[in-house]
Amino acid sequence: MTETPRRLLPMLGSTRGKRSAVTCALKCDNACSDAVCNTSTNTYFRDIVSSEFSRRSALGAGAAGALTLLVGMQTGAGSAQAAPPPGTGYRKSNLPFDAIAPVDASVDAMTVPQGYGWKPVIRWGDPLFANSPAFDAESQTAAAQALQFGYNCDYTDVLEIEGSKGRRAVLFANHEYTNETIMVPPTLPAADVRGIGKAAHGLSVVELERRNRNKPWSYVQGAPLNRRYLTTTPYEVTGPAAGSDLLKTKDDPAGRTILGTLGNCAGGTTPWGTILSGEENFNGYFVATGTSDGDRRYGLTNRPTARGWEIDEARWDTRNAGYENEKHRFGYIVEVDPFDPTSTPKKHTALGRFKHEGANVTVASDGRVVAYMGDDERFDYLYKFVSTNTVQPGTSAAARKANMTLLSEGSLYVARFQGDSVAEIDGSGRLPSDGAFDGVGEWLPLLVDNRSVVAGMTAEEVAVFTRLAADRMGATKMDRCEDVQPNPLTGRVYVACTNNTNRGVGSNAIADEANPRTLNRDGHVVELSEAGGNASGTRFTWNLLLVCGDPARSPATYFGGYPKDKVSPISCPDNVAFDSQGNLWISTDGQPGTVGYSDGLFKVGLEGAERGRVQQFLAVPRDAETCGPIIHDQEGTVFVAVQHPGEDGSWANQHSSFPDYVPSGSAPGKGQAALPRPSVVQVYRA
Ligand code: FEO
Ligand code: CA
Ligand code: CA
Repeated sequence: MTETPRRLLPMLGSTRGKRSAVTCALKCDNACSDAVCNTSTNTYFRDIVSSEFSRRSALGAGAAGALTLLVGMQTGAGSAQAAPPPGTGYRKSNLPFDAIAPVDASVDAMTVPQGYGWKPVIRWGDPLFANSPAFDAESQTAAAQALQFGYNCDYTDVLEIEGSKGRRAVLFANHEYTNETIMVPPTLPAADVRGIGKAAHGLSVVELERRNRNKPWSYVQGAPLNRRYLTTTPYEVTGPAAGSDLLKTKDDPAGRTILGTLGNCAGGTTPWGTILSGEENFNGYFVATGTSDGDRRYGLTNRPTARGWEIDEARWDTRNAGYENEKHRFGYIVEVDPFDPTSTPKKHTALGRFKHEGANVTVASDGRVVAYMGDDERFDYLYKFVSTNTVQPGTSAAARKANMTLLSEGSLYVARFQGDSVAEIDGSGRLPSDGAFDGVGEWLPLLVDNRSVVAGMTAEEVAVFTRLAADRMGATKMDRCEDVQPNPLTGRVYVACTNNTNRGVGSNAIADEANPRTLNRDGHVVELSEAGGNASGTRFTWNLLLVCGDPARSPATYFGGYPKDKVSPISCPDNVAFDSQGNLWISTDGQPGTVGYSDGLFKVGLEGAERGRVQQFLAVPRDAETCGPIIHDQEGTVFVAVQHPGEDGSWANQHSSFPDYVPSGSAPGKGQAALPRPSVVQVYRA
């Protein structure tokens, strides 16, 4: 059989002023160089929303003041919050640091603040099971990779195991995508390369151990909770599209069981201790006709895929008879129970299908759970899901089982933002005369208790073609919503809009107050407050906390009112997290192509005099992005996933040897290699 050669990678370098061309090709199927796929005009509900806004505006500042007061009261007392991690038992933060200086993007080093050290907790290729072979870069096989830690982690969490006195924990990590050019020797047959790459996708759960709370974590090979989720792992479909004709294939005539998860990006940990992970750039794994409204709106094309899995398995080419719907079976939020290695993970169609960045859950004051979600595509939308049923308190097996059904039924909303300084928004990023990019907003329903409220679409159609449903309702086109997360202390929700260099270009949407810069290269962060502190309600107020960039070079930046000459430059916000004191932490993806610095992790104050103070905590190695931050500040430790280190290199000319950094001329030790290995890293007070 003649083999299609591996697709050539694009010319190296940065594209569109952002990330590397290799990352664009392999992670997002060149989403930013293809035409914008949201060409909707979004006018259907605009008049209604505008007139309601005018009416409420007419109520004046007194009404706005009352709203703010209610938010404060509700989030302080009435709003149930996610339980703190078990066994912490601390009150004070133990993470003092002086901001590091920005690191030049050419530097291949992990840079942490003075007084801190770092170590990889687990690396791509590390053996997970008793029978897993040790990583051997020169002799990789798909069978070995299936028993080893996967590639390119994005979302991570570390959850202590109850009763372990802080000595054992479970680590979850997903594996977003692969870069076979730097992973495997070029002499390997193409079919082997495809198999290794495929086995490096999916998810991993692995147990960690430490001697006491002052020691760093190590992973435990062969521990009982260790598990790899591969493209062969069955997922149960829940929600309106379960059993739908839209999901049926030759291999799954019932439309209820899907093999594998793809493009897993950010995620969240639920109050009941399960993990949510977002299927993001799934389109890049499929060949389609590319001619239907659904295909066009989701970026599905008839191009051969970058990894060529369609050569070996018919389902990846959805032009094949019986597999037309395979592409509809990805793009969901998956839920995984890391404490039960025999459990069947779920794909929740009630939370919609789009390029799910992730999902973060809070409990509303009425006991229903609310998941906030971004669709990471230029001019796509911000969503939230509100469960029909209420959360069961406690951690009993019965409560957990009940809570694991909460995301199967509920209401799905998409956000519409209305600014209060509309006439002053000119795309320059200049702050309006009222001193803020801010306004009100509305959650527009698409599904109510799993029933469609979109004219002309059934519930299963809304669940599968969520973008088309949202287009009809007049949602606000955003600058790529990445992670969206409620602050566990205040209930306010933070939305990282990473960038959108097509804002205001050609026939695309122009700047608005929630996305105020034409050619938005550096991104911004929205702070959203649910009206009355009611996370399950349909009204909110909002403002931009950060308008990102390097303030020394760009006047169109804003840092929550903090003096611009006293902050770390920050660009392309991506993942967000909170510490125990309610500070926001932001990891970035794309700084080398914008401000010229390595990506990093930044702490941002939110309250009082500290509001808007951005301090860089760490910088990741050459070509890498920073992902999955976990802030265990009371233990003086932070975890990050270092994704795609050395992305722009080749097998013969690697750009990074993170994390082993074997000195040139010396022989690598056991399990070490002079090629980059994406890893989950722990940073700790030395
Ligand atoms: Fe995988 Fe939207 O970042
Ligand atoms: Ca304003
Ligand atoms: Ca991301």
